[in-house]
Amino acid sequence: MNNDLYAVVGNPISHSKSPRIHSLFASQTGEKLEYTAIQAPEDDFVGTVTGFFQRGGQGLNVTVPFKEQAWKLADRRTERAELAGAANTLYQDSEGLLTADNTDGKGLVMDLSENHCITLAGKRILVLGAGGAVRGVLGPLLAEKPSALVIANRTVAKAEGLVTLFEPFAEQTLLEACGFEELKEPFDLIINGTSASLQGDLPPISANVIGAGTVVYDMMYSLQTTTFNQWALDHGATLVFDGLGMLVEQAAESFRIWRGVSPETRPVIDELRND
Ligand code: ATR
Repeated sequence: MNNDLYAVVGNPISHSKSPRIHSLFASQTGEKLEYTAIQAPEDDFVGTVTGFFQRGGQGLNVTVPFKEQAWKLADRRTERAELAGAANTLYQDSEGLLTADNTDGKGLVMDLSENHCITLAGKRILVLGAGGAVRGVLGPLLAEKPSALVIANRTVAKAEGLVTLFEPFAEQTLLEACGFEELKEPFDLIINGTSASLQGDLPPISANVIGAGTVVYDMMYSLQTTTFNQWALDHGATLVFDGLGMLVEQAAESFRIWRGVSPETRPVIDELRND
């Protein structure tokens, strides 16, 4: 019998670590599956996805630039995908309906809480950025019940839009939007969700946001310290993490959805870190 087939779809895709992560999960758990990388043409994501499932494919991860298209294409969406406005996981449900999920936020929260032992409940969190990556993680962050969550963005109106969207899910959390220049006080946790470092830039914020115990998390990952984390270290932060753990944790959540089996993430994070 052939192995079940999974893939990640993106453009470009050759750099993706997902095939490696899922192969490590499969060998660790004994699940019989193949996981490949598919580069979809910019103008034919739908054809790529349809063809994959017609060939008997079981599940897809979706990455840049197709997460919003995946969300639109689906017949049904999980609640967290609905709120995220983007999907990174696709599969057919028991009735054959194309189902979209988003495991990014769960991946971030799992990395913070399980791998780095950081409790989010009651904490003051600063999130930098208000694009797709940030929207994808706000629901799961708010579910952890921080005391405050401030979304700061270059374009303040986008941060305000996210506050309006997520206000009904804030419950005990004070949810606010602001511009970078308004940030003056230290936070317990700072999460960088901007894409500034892709252009070699930093979000222009005061180092006053970093206090004695501030934890800094860059959703980007890189083999060297990320630009943002280096800035934080240079301004007094002592605990900085990048997004490699989030990447592995979001993959683990997809694997659980598809296979009903929970892989161990620690050894996979360690192995990727040592590449
Ligand atoms: P992603 O899917 O990675 O979130 P996006 O939706 O384009 O990509 O969002 C990029 C985010 O990074 C936005 O918050 C953007 O700020 P604007 O909303 O003002 O555009 C932020 N960003 C990008 N380059 C930046 C820079 N050089 N300085 C500060 N913020 C930047």
